[in-house]
Amino acid sequence: MKKFNISIAGGGSTFTPGIILMLLDHLEDFPIDTIKLYDNDGERQQTIADACEILLKERAPEVKLLASTDPKVAFENVDFVMAHIRVGKYAMREQDEKIPLRHGVVGQETCGPGGIAYGMRSITGVLEIIDYMEKYSPDAWMLNYSNPAAIVAEATRKLRPNSKILNICDMPIGIEELMASNIGLSSRKEMVVKYYGLNHFGWWTDIRDKSGKDLMPEIIKHVEQHGYATDTGSDMEKEASWSDTFKKARDVQAIDKDTLPNTYLKYYLYPDYEVAHSNKEYTRANEVMAGREKFVFTECENIINKGTAEGTELTIDEHASYIVDLARAIAFNTKERMLMIVENKGAISNFEPTAMVEIPCLVGSEGPEPLSVGEIPRFQKSLMEQQVGVEKLTVEAYEEQSYQKLWQALTLSRTIPSAKVAKDILDDLIEANKGYWPDLK
Ligand code: NAD
Ligand code: G6P
Ligand code: MN
Repeated sequence: MKKFNISIAGGGSTFTPGIILMLLDHLEDFPIDTIKLYDNDGERQQTIADACEILLKERAPEVKLLASTDPKVAFENVDFVMAHIRVGKYAMREQDEKIPLRHGVVGQETCGPGGIAYGMRSITGVLEIIDYMEKYSPDAWMLNYSNPAAIVAEATRKLRPNSKILNICDMPIGIEELMASNIGLSSRKEMVVKYYGLNHFGWWTDIRDKSGKDLMPEIIKHVEQHGYATDTGSDMEKEASWSDTFKKARDVQAIDKDTLPNTYLKYYLYPDYEVAHSNKEYTRANEVMAGREKFVFTECENIINKGTAEGTELTIDEHASYIVDLARAIAFNTKERMLMIVENKGAISNFEPTAMVEIPCLVGSEGPEPLSVGEIPRFQKSLMEQQVGVEKLTVEAYEEQSYQKLWQALTLSRTIPSAKVAKDILDDLIEANKGYWPDLK
């Protein structure tokens, strides 16, 4: 079997070691020759790279690893670019969360004003990586999960329409794992799902087992009582903020009894509750810096100091194996059914054709082939129209460097109560994002 060369953009990410371990665990299905790490913060990346090098030597010496801040080195001769960059890093995530909260508005990484601010930063970074990939490996595919995926997907649709970029999200996968466990299935892969929406903004409408048995009633029954919470002590639920999110899905589901919601809808449907339950001085960015970031970098430093990865607590990010499924679908034309963020083009028949929607697709060597969804109900359609307007206006504001359009985007977000509050938040965000956003006129 051909061995693939992979570039990981955002090599210094907290997710890189878990993803490399996951790739090693899948070498039989997806053989790898070389993994290249690329980051624009060479020092941050080096710690991850040095530790991963030791790890690879011990566990898969045949796989080569190199790390570089030079795009030519990092993107030359690769088959896939896996992109997980965070432009502005956690310091800017903290601003995205805290600035809106100061104005009494939801402070979240990808939803509401925080997501818009992050989007304005990410577009430049993601476009730059696409351009490097196309320059140095014109046949490669980019598997992008850099956030905010909805805005990044709209920006790449519009500004790089012919690029081979696939935008994906792991939230539906994470939720499906909880659903499966709650009804006694061993894996989400035993379920065949229908789902539609925007990224971090969607609903399951049908879930069956492989024999066609309808699993919705049993899952809904569980969600009506417990949300997506399990009693298995799953990894994500060990963190209080995720555990709360999974429980809150109960209230989100109550608004539309026949479907099952993405957990992120809570920020749009219960923004007052979310603000009231946020600590304005200590947000998720602080939790992640004190938690995942500290843990990953400490573990990497331990590996480097000891010269061995034996006994390391770094674990396989099995959750991320959907990235291998996606790469395999492209490489081996598997036509696997997966949720992807793609241009609607009539798949949702009563929704804007150019909207980037998250729907099931069959993925093969030509890319994703969206499956038809048909008509969606008025409640979801109306919410999605408002949100897609936010995302499109953000990208237009970026492209035209328009203050006015960004103000409109913020004003349109369900999370913001008035144009006045939108303007106050915008002015603070502009100040905080100097050097990251295009100058707005
Ligand atoms: P992180 O800050 O630890 O890692 C991001 C890395 O990107 C950093 O090392 C940073 O230096 C680098 N970077 C920033 N701008 C860059 C640029 N222009 N070029 C190259 N490198 C750049 O963040 P993290 O928490 O590990 O998350 C990484 C990304 O993955 C985020 O965008 C996050 O939102 C995303 N993510 C997405 C999903 C999904 O479902 N789509 C799931 C998990 C994480
Ligand atoms: C889920 C979402 C991602 C998001 C992440 C945040 O996985 O799908 O898009 O980046 O959660 O997790 P964190 O632990 O960084 O708050
Ligand atoms: Mn996501």
